[in-house]
Amino acid sequence: MKLSATIAETRWALDEVRREGGTVGLVPTMGYLHEGHLSLMVAARADTDFVIATIFVNPLQFAPGEDLASYPRDPGGDRVKAEGAGVDLLFCPEHAEMYPDEVLTTVSVGGLSRSMEGASRPTHFAGVATVVAKLFAIAGPCRAYFGEKDFQQLAVVRKMAADLSFPVEVVGCPIVREPDGLALSSRNAYLTPEQRQAAPVLQRALKAGAASIRAGERDPAVVCRLVGEVMAAEPEAEPDYVALVDPATLQPPAGDLEPGPYRLLTAARVGVPRLLDNIALTVPPSG
Ligand code: PAJ
Repeated sequence: MKLSATIAETRWALDEVRREGGTVGLVPTMGYLHEGHLSLMVAARADTDFVIATIFVNPLQFAPGEDLASYPRDPGGDRVKAEGAGVDLLFCPEHAEMYPDEVLTTVSVGGLSRSMEGASRPTHFAGVATVVAKLFAIAGPCRAYFGEKDFQQLAVVRKMAADLSFPVEVVGCPIVREPDGLALSSRNAYLTPEQRQAAPVLQRALKAGAASIRAGERDPAVVCRLVGEVMAAEPEAEPDYVALVDPATLQPPAGDLEPGPYRLLTAARVGVPRLLDNIALTVPPSG
């Protein structure tokens, strides 16, 4: 595995791959790699000829008072894990390489960025969209792999790539979980043992919502209330939102659930970190 800290060297390496007829798979991350990140690298490895992973803790997507300074880091461990997952090039730019001057240009994806995570973190998705646009501009034509764990982020990135005609195919990958159902996250490192025990409540609550739909519930408000009640029963968890939306538009249904696919999403503070989770639902045809 090669390491690169500069945009110029990274561009040169990827241009070379494409000149020789190869395809490029891009996996953007903020590091402190776990099996969720590695699953994206393994998917990219299976689909493309040359895998580039990036590690950059992007200050634009953290609001003042959030955990930018304390965000967990493990550069040495990350290198070993990325290499083990089959990464060919690891791009780890310093802040000054990505943002040499004051940033006056930002990318914001209206609509999709305002609800759920966007309501709690109003500047977050513009920070994500801006750095991902930069990474797409650096990487050039490629397939880019993102986790469904951050389902709204995936939708925002997909729309940004389409609206701005980036030559990038955005690929969504399934959530990797601990055996007890907790979605893997770098921020799980902040949990105390008691909070860690409580954290799978997000997944349990979402599953209770899904079960209510299987049992015939069609009122989205009732489903969301049930999810909220399961979380409220866990004293360590402070629920933020529960939303049942169309998976493509992230819009809530206008009335009762119709047959078709939906996504049920939630966020809750458990101790220090805000944890996210979501599951796919399908409302079966009636009758
Ligand atoms: P980060 O939180 O490091 O996540 C990098 C990628 O790993 C994202 O696409 C995320 O959805 C995916 N991921 C994280 N946990 C996962 C899990 N349990 N299962 C599957 N995929 C998982 O998301 C970011 O960084 C940043 O916002 C970034 C896109 C890199 C822009 O700065």
